[in-house]
Amino acid sequence: MNRLSADVVVVGSGIAGLSAALRAKSETQVVIVTKGKLEEGNTRYAQGGIAAAWFPDDSPTLHESDTSEAGDGLCDPAALRIMCEEAASRIADLLSYGVPFDQEGPGFARGLEAAHSVARILHAGGDSTGAFIESALVRAVHDATIPCRERSFVTDLIVSKGRVVGLRLLDEDGAPTEVSANAVVLASGGAGQVFLHTTNPTVATGDGVAAAHRAGAEIADMEFFQFHPTALAMPGTAPFLISEAVRGEGAFLLDRDGRHFLLDVHPQAELAPRDVLARAIVAQVASQDGEPVVLDVTHLGSTRLRSRFPRIDAHCRALGLDWAREPIPVTPAAHYSMGGIVTDTFGRTSLRGLYACGEVACTGVHGANRLASNSLLEGIVFGVRVGASLSKGDKAWDKSDTLVGSLRATLPPVAPGLPGFETGALLDPALEPGSERSPATSLREAIRTLTWAKVGLIRDGSGLSEAAARLAAWEATLPEPTGISDLEDANLLRVARLVTEAALLREESRGAHFRSDFPMSSPAWERHIVFEPPTAPNPAASADKTESRLAVP
Ligand code: SIN
Repeated sequence: MNRLSADVVVVGSGIAGLSAALRAKSETQVVIVTKGKLEEGNTRYAQGGIAAAWFPDDSPTLHESDTSEAGDGLCDPAALRIMCEEAASRIADLLSYGVPFDQEGPGFARGLEAAHSVARILHAGGDSTGAFIESALVRAVHDATIPCRERSFVTDLIVSKGRVVGLRLLDEDGAPTEVSANAVVLASGGAGQVFLHTTNPTVATGDGVAAAHRAGAEIADMEFFQFHPTALAMPGTAPFLISEAVRGEGAFLLDRDGRHFLLDVHPQAELAPRDVLARAIVAQVASQDGEPVVLDVTHLGSTRLRSRFPRIDAHCRALGLDWAREPIPVTPAAHYSMGGIVTDTFGRTSLRGLYACGEVACTGVHGANRLASNSLLEGIVFGVRVGASLSKGDKAWDKSDTLVGSLRATLPPVAPGLPGFETGALLDPALEPGSERSPATSLREAIRTLTWAKVGLIRDGSGLSEAAARLAAWEATLPEPTGISDLEDANLLRVARLVTEAALLREESRGAHFRSDFPMSSPAWERHIVFEPPTAPNPAASADKTESRLAVP
């Protein structure tokens, strides 16, 4: 076993992790570890841009009220205010790192996206904002000579006397390393791979939430998983994001008869909130026997499409689609987890020594449904706040600052006598109506197919109960892991269970969570569901407790 030590270990290399590392570096010794290459992760795939009250006709208060409206009653007011007020300073930081935001005339170009009352989205390279931000931050990390360990997978957090004191890693050859640290920052991103169809890259397997839950940190809002309404629907290819900014530029969604069907659904049509649009598309597709709806942007013409959306344009053309001449088929796909590890407004979690920021965290800013282009913003605002907090020394989290009035829950233990993991038998192909897929052949495929069918955009109690039982049984009978892929499967299972159990508990519809058996929202549910640790940590009793890998509740 190799051993390392550092003041601070940052896990993850997207906008949140790199911002935390850069801010903390001036006063502490920081190491970044990341499971893929430094540049890999959700950040570089972000297309639309970064929202900020930057222009004179906008204000943090207006940005706050748009975000709160989308969040459907569950945004944390303190965190939300901080995010909107600190946005302009963080844009200034990005400029200082050399991010070339697109210009229009003497100022920045500004995009409009759904549910924003003014155009406030700054973008770079047209639709390559995330890639430009990621490259600039990676350059800054190299300039600051922050040591980075790529292709290092975190297997466990090490907990001693109720506080996180380090972590264990496996490198790509399976060699273990133990890193001791005064503080661990989880900034490991999202969990879109828990669903069969997702805009997220393959690295997004929910590793941070799963490790934090096993270690005893509080996890909240897991039932709120956002489905992006428009991913390219091409059989045999992974869903590719068609940015909301395309609809902001005037694209229409049409049914198979060429009808602008959203006019019957919502006054804002293509710019209605994402959850409304995604469900309307699913309903439309069902009513036209599974034929996809199409996105028509032909009126913008090829020159404008190529200059405003070069990345999407190139992707479509590589697949033989000319979107300047013909509408393209689109479908909703899992996109973003509003839930995660509960933090205060400095990224401190319920476990001393453990911090979280970015998509892995639940600051409460997004409530039940994230407003478009607020994710890069949340990542940088709270990443910098974590870095600032660390450079002032480790403090206990401020519980008064987090998700007040929550319902407390734990993952239910597995009932005896449930079947074990038999993918072929447990997963019937009818789970995906109309599909020609054969029964799942791997645990990962089984999890993803099950969640898509039963825990997806439209849920109900009976489907959720069935999914909960299957997932619990699979987790209880997990084989011994033989490599990183097995460890990722275990993480996906843990995240899938948290999403499913929370969705089952929340007997209402709100934001991204829609229950066909409880289609209305209820004032009684204007609160968060917080998962407590499987077994409550007892610092006095656990003189030197290290969380063992794959422990089940
Ligand atoms: C998009 O470009 O539509 C994605 C932006 C986001 O998810 O905020």
